[in-house]
Amino acid sequence: MYILGIESSCDETAAAVVEDGRILRSNVISSSVKEQALYGGVVPEIASRRHIEAVSAVACRALADAGLRANDLGAVAVTFAPGLIGAVLVGVNFAKGLAYAAGKPLVPVHHLRGHIAANYLTHPDLAPPFLCLVASGGHSHIVQVEGYCRFKVLGRTVDDAAGEAFDKVARTLGLPYPGGPSVAQAAKTGDAKAYRLPVPKVEGRYNVSFSGLKTAVINEVHNAAQRGEEIRVADMAASFQERIAQILAKKLLAAAADTGAKTVALAGGVAANGRLRQLVNDGAQKLGARVVLPELKFCGDNAAMIAAQGYYEYMDGNIAALDLNGLPTLGIDYR
Ligand code: KG4
Ligand code: ZN
Repeated sequence: MYILGIESSCDETAAAVVEDGRILRSNVISSSVKEQALYGGVVPEIASRRHIEAVSAVACRALADAGLRANDLGAVAVTFAPGLIGAVLVGVNFAKGLAYAAGKPLVPVHHLRGHIAANYLTHPDLAPPFLCLVASGGHSHIVQVEGYCRFKVLGRTVDDAAGEAFDKVARTLGLPYPGGPSVAQAAKTGDAKAYRLPVPKVEGRYNVSFSGLKTAVINEVHNAAQRGEEIRVADMAASFQERIAQILAKKLLAAAADTGAKTVALAGGVAANGRLRQLVNDGAQKLGARVVLPELKFCGDNAAMIAAQGYYEYMDGNIAALDLNGLPTLGIDYR
């Protein structure tokens, strides 16, 4: 069964065709990130406008690349939550129109469930249950994936998301948006032991907190400026990356040990971080757990992951009527 996925929850307008939740047939992404970088972050109104301009062409291209017509699809899956609401609604309305015109079922997909499903594209044999850290620009969750459509949140950030912390620290250090890739790049030539950054204290064994860490970086930058010194950007980038990667890996591995997870996965934009991948890999091996990591091209926002999860939502009977609404927030464990 072919599913066309549509994704427009942030600054990527994406469409992709996936067969039976696993086999990638096409994957098209049009991003407004270069324009957003001028403003140091995503301007929702710009994102919405670019989605409107791009969505038809991106979807047509995804069908053409797969050698299919709308008639050949089994369903149209779309990110309906969570995300920038104006942006989400562009994808939702487009998907409704296409589903109605082609007479196909409309499948609503939760964006973070999609991020987790990116792993199904990379690892054809992966099946729940497994434990997953979902770390993106807006969310940081440690999730027990009990079934394809059944999730239990064990821990979450109590303030900033991991990606958001990367983005804010990058801005403080004068590095370009998006912060994750630019901090990782700068860190390559830095000394991760150069700055001693705090380990935030947080209630809840699997919860994380990053606002104190971010503030510590800002304070170091200000203190250096007051002394008339320049912060060593590469060293700070490396020290920050090391600290945040350690925190995320430690919490995920603690949850893995406590729950006896046999498989541990990463998902979301921050899952592209090389140091995080390495720490999780090393730690899980010590626990005797299998590690699954999404291919780099499926870490950031894309529609292949939406089509993949869409297949399992469809199989679970999650089909929307044409009055489907977009939602800015919604728990991954919604029923
Ligand atoms: O999942 P995603 O593409 O979009 C959201 O759903 O938010 O995640 C974007 C976030 C951004 O904050 C970006 O800075 C971060 O993922 N990111 C990274 C890396 N690549 C992207 N963070 C750390 N290291 C990276 N290599
Ligand atoms: Zn995302």
